[in-house]
Amino acid sequence: MKVLVIGNGGREHALAWKLSESKNVDKIFMARGNGGTEDFCENLDLDPKDIHGLLKFAHEEKIDLTVVGPEDPLCLGIVDAFKEKGLKVFGPNKDCARFEKSKEFTKKFLEKYSIPTAKYKSFENYDEAIEGLSEFSYPLVVKADGLCLGKGVIICQNLEEAKDALHKIFKDKIFGDEGSTVVIEEFLTGEEASVLCLVSDNKLFPLERAKDHKQIFDGDKGPNTGGVGTYSPVAASQELEKNLQVIYRQIEDGLDKEKLTYSGILFIGFMIEEDKPKVLEFNVRFGDPETEVLMPRLDCDLFELLNKTIDGKLKEEDIKWKDETCLTVIMCSGGYPASYEKGKEISGLDDVDEDIIVFHNGTKKSDALYTNGGRVLSVTALGKNLEEARKKAYDNVAKINFDGAYFRKDIGTKKNNNI
Ligand code: AMP
Ligand code: GLY
Repeated sequence: MKVLVIGNGGREHALAWKLSESKNVDKIFMARGNGGTEDFCENLDLDPKDIHGLLKFAHEEKIDLTVVGPEDPLCLGIVDAFKEKGLKVFGPNKDCARFEKSKEFTKKFLEKYSIPTAKYKSFENYDEAIEGLSEFSYPLVVKADGLCLGKGVIICQNLEEAKDALHKIFKDKIFGDEGSTVVIEEFLTGEEASVLCLVSDNKLFPLERAKDHKQIFDGDKGPNTGGVGTYSPVAASQELEKNLQVIYRQIEDGLDKEKLTYSGILFIGFMIEEDKPKVLEFNVRFGDPETEVLMPRLDCDLFELLNKTIDGKLKEEDIKWKDETCLTVIMCSGGYPASYEKGKEISGLDDVDEDIIVFHNGTKKSDALYTNGGRVLSVTALGKNLEEARKKAYDNVAKINFDGAYFRKDIGTKKNNNI
């Protein structure tokens, strides 16, 4: 069978790596892939947003399964386009991708189905939004409605900052049309956690949990990034588990009532306080770097799992996990998440231990391997427990080098590892 994986990051490298283990998979194409996927896949010169080009390729090459990594092609309707041509594709359709494309759409859904979330109001112009601020206390959160490369959320400590945020979005149009609607939201406190669910015909199958580390500096300090380290599994209290189950059922009920047909992955971001989860956001794709620790722990055939999900035939018992803990440390380019340089030569990959998996987030191969993004490499280890996985990962990070390399030293060291 031939598989096409769309995307360039560590998430897509991890998905392709797991798919390559399947006895059903003979060949994997990547659009575009990176320096790491080149070793076992065929990287294509096709942009993940080039729906027409991808469709033409999949049709001509008779691809048996296409797996969509990032949100952009999903929001552009790649799944609808592929299905129309009779091609099998993993991911939600354009209607359902609105859960990531529009924060207002998600908030309305959450409100309608009484799913716990921060109190909010949405606005389409600056003056009304300024007036609306009086209904909130500080800090509050200003969010551009659309896709803003993870930068559309501004936490405001006072009226001045809130006015400034609204001015930047509505008047300076820093997010262009993606900021034509703004959501103002109550600020939630607690511990952030995410759950990735396979969704098969509107039924949610939560995967084992992975704990992300979003801030760039140790001790969860500094600006947010896409995620610079993860581990899995994560323990949870019975009370929290019970509350999460209620939310999963509410989401399924809402999808049915809205006559949506959701298939693919739903990434639910939560804020949790005293075992009470509130939904912060939905994403309609796998998390990155969550996928880098989930794939090595998955103890079943990913190709079969994704096909069953698409066919609406997935069952709880199809999803199997290894007992081991998996931890990944992301080596970043110096300066990330602000500006950084690319094109630094990477050395030491030949020296890493055999049981270490290095997923590539942002690399490019020519005469040698070079950095090509803010997040560069996910150095990933399985161990019998968190301590062992962490030690193995960091021992191997130490063997890899590039100019300006930066990584957090404290992934998986928090005293309270439960969410
Ligand atoms: P989002 O893209 O909505 O997940 O927001 C990005 C990040 O902003 C989240 O991961 C949180 O750290 C933070 N955030 C978003 N909404 C809220 C909120 N209502 N209260 C507190 N923090 C928030
Ligand atoms: N790691 C967070 C995300 O993928 O959005």
